[in-house]
Amino acid sequence: MLSTLEKGLPLALYANLVTMTQLRSDSQRQRRSRNSKNINVTGGKLVVVEFDKKKEIRIADLFSGSGGAAMGLHRAFTGVPHKIVGFDILPMPRYPAFHDAEYAKHFEFHQQDALTVDLSGFDAVWASPPCQAYTPLRARYPEKTYPDLIGETRDALRLGVQPWIIENVMPAPIGRDAVLCGTMFGLRVYRHRRFEASDLFMFVVPEHPRHKYRTGSGHGQTQRKAHYLAGNFVTVTGNVGSYAGAAMGIDWMTGAELSQAIPPAYSEYLGRQLLAAIDGSGEGVMAL
Ligand SMILES: C[S@@+](CC[C@H](N)C(=O)[O-])C[C@H]1O[C@@H](n2cnc3c(N)ncnc32)[C@H](O)[C@@H]1O
Repeated sequence: MLSTLEKGLPLALYANLVTMTQLRSDSQRQRRSRNSKNINVTGGKLVVVEFDKKKEIRIADLFSGSGGAAMGLHRAFTGVPHKIVGFDILPMPRYPAFHDAEYAKHFEFHQQDALTVDLSGFDAVWASPPCQAYTPLRARYPEKTYPDLIGETRDALRLGVQPWIIENVMPAPIGRDAVLCGTMFGLRVYRHRRFEASDLFMFVVPEHPRHKYRTGSGHGQTQRKAHYLAGNFVTVTGNVGSYAGAAMGIDWMTGAELSQAIPPAYSEYLGRQLLAAIDGSGEGVMAL
């Protein structure tokens, strides 16, 4: 079926058809059919739903931290009315909603458990559950317990109808739909992160350049800074110091906040594809 249909199709639609063939079972198709307002694939029938392009697009930014992901999403949505709404269990006074800048009007922040958020009013969801449970840090502090929220987060997102992206560290139990690295965006951090997307949403990812430069990861923070300032790459972990923000493309966070954040370039890149999934613009993902 694909070989005849794919001819002359826009990449967005082709990607969808390819992804549809990856749905594993009829029950999965039926679940999608029930859960999605944008597409009906029952009996192989595709239904295109018009999106009101004047409407404000609302993105829930779950586990927002101080807004590394949020800032990239905002940049991806520049030119269309949008609001990025952050939710974090802790106060986040440096979230972009509180910046003294014109762009602050595109953000909102709520101190709230992300797993209690009513997602029904949102057009898409970004989720960055805490990663400590999946990092080597866990072995270093065996007496500590870290929240393991990825499963619950995914279950909650699957109940919704909107496209979503979950972001986490490489060892985390999420799909390998995309892996991004700072070198893909000209940054002086490697900072590999994995991204899992809702069904029927397929990522396009840039080429991964070879790692040519050493990082200052194994050193104390003072040596790490000197290593970075000498023109090398830096590994952003622990209370690294706000100087490392430049390597991430972030100039509003403390060192401790940076160590939790992703470079906005990552979410800007994937956010453009998310926009395509929401309103049908762009290429590479579904918008049905
Ligand atoms: C990996 S950090 C998020 C980083 C952020 N996406 C960024 O790019 O800057 C995870 C965040 O989840 C928050 N958190 C932990 N448990 C939470 C919960 N149940 N609900 C909301 N936020 C939570 C932490 O306070 C932390 O800020």
